[in-house]
Amino acid sequence: MARFGILTSGGDAPGMNAAIRAAVRTATSDGHEIIAYRNGYTGLVEQRWTELDERTVSNIIQLGGTIIGTSRSKAFMEASVRARCGDHLKEMGIEGLIVIGGDGSFRGALALQDEVGVKVVGVPGTIDNDVFGTDETIGFDTAVNTAVEAIDRVRDTGESTGMIFYVEVMGRSSGAIALHAGVAGGAAAVLAPETPTDVDDLVGRLKRSIERGKRSHIIIVSEGDEAGGAFAVADRVGEKLDHEYRVVILGHTQRGGAPTARDRLVAAFCGSRAVEALAEGRSGIMVGMQDGQVAETPLARVVAEAHSRPETDLLALARRLSR
Ligand code: F6P
Repeated sequence: MARFGILTSGGDAPGMNAAIRAAVRTATSDGHEIIAYRNGYTGLVEQRWTELDERTVSNIIQLGGTIIGTSRSKAFMEASVRARCGDHLKEMGIEGLIVIGGDGSFRGALALQDEVGVKVVGVPGTIDNDVFGTDETIGFDTAVNTAVEAIDRVRDTGESTGMIFYVEVMGRSSGAIALHAGVAGGAAAVLAPETPTDVDDLVGRLKRSIERGKRSHIIIVSEGDEAGGAFAVADRVGEKLDHEYRVVILGHTQRGGAPTARDRLVAAFCGSRAVEALAEGRSGIMVGMQDGQVAETPLARVVAEAHSRPETDLLALARRLSR
């Protein structure tokens, strides 16, 4: 019987609650205890925690956000603060910590392991799908579906009025949401940070399709695109193409809402395996999904190779299908 800690860190993502539920129920069904830190690493720094059991995680599988709160803790970036956290975890008898978040959160987890000897296991939870070692992060599928639903709605107005729409989606330095939502939403163009944006080429393509009589032109712009966000791209195109347009920023609507079945499944697989890994003494790993199977990857590799996965095939497909 062991005692484990759990926290969610960074941007919240739909499915984090399902991962908490899976971890708690796996732990308690094997006779372990699990306590949750409030608001990510902030709760660890401030020693704000609560015990979770089977019943406290009832009816959360369908909830977006994270019931234990999250944050991007600046304090935790200090080694002296992490040392105090290590002392606290030892005093609490916590044998391992599960961190649900993205690569920034995993850097913190790795530092905790290396500096204070606490066992850590990561679970990828971010809408951005930019974590090495997993084909999908918890929250990504929901965010893409939310974006596609919005794009479908925008298309109705685009088709009715003939206006160009620039729809900005999230993904700080990742074009994953833009690409997946762009292809699934039938976008005229997808601008992602992984590839250089050629505004002149975009203007040429828009002119040609307008001449051909196409009415709905939806340009998906990733917020991290180097050409700027959707407003900046719309301005630059507007200098060369006199055609009415509107800009739609989807923003945090993509972070909320009930997780899709896929995100709940990924959360269940990864949350459960994270507890098993800790119970079996493993540390410094992330539990993700590879080719439909649960897979463990060293956290050191996960953080070293962050953001190194441009989906060039999908980008080529988006371009080929947008005619
Ligand atoms: O990492 C998830 C994410 O939603 C990114 O897509 C976005 O750039 C960022 O978080 C926004 O962060 P915040 O909500 O903290 O401003």
